Amino acid sequence: MANEWVEIAKLSEVPDGGTCPIRYNGEPICLYNLEGKIYATYDICTHGQASLADGFIVDGDKIECPLHQGMFEIATGKAVSTPCKLDLAIFEVKVDQGVILLKV
Ligand code: FES
Repeated sequence: MANEWVEIAKLSEVPDGGTCPIRYNGEPICLYNLEGKIYATYDICTHGQASLADGFIVDGDKIECPLHQGMFEIATGKAVSTPCKLDLAIFEVKVDQGVILLKV
């Protein structure tokens, strides 16, 4: 299964300016709604066992980890604040008729 799009959530499940944790094939993924545009990253912080879906969106484009306040750029997964040093995996998503699709 490569280069296919699979339904992972409804757009209505991801609040504007918020996050929504989902699982795909057992992998934890965090969805973000930034002014109507949907992004997806791996949900677990690269510094420790924290769900980024429980974190806080900062400056409209970064996610702050709820455990030690490290930050990642949501669109790129880049670690931008200590103690996070390793970048976060990101996933390609799109929205079609109110459904969020993940590229697999
Ligand atoms: S677990 Fe995320 S910053 Fe430490």
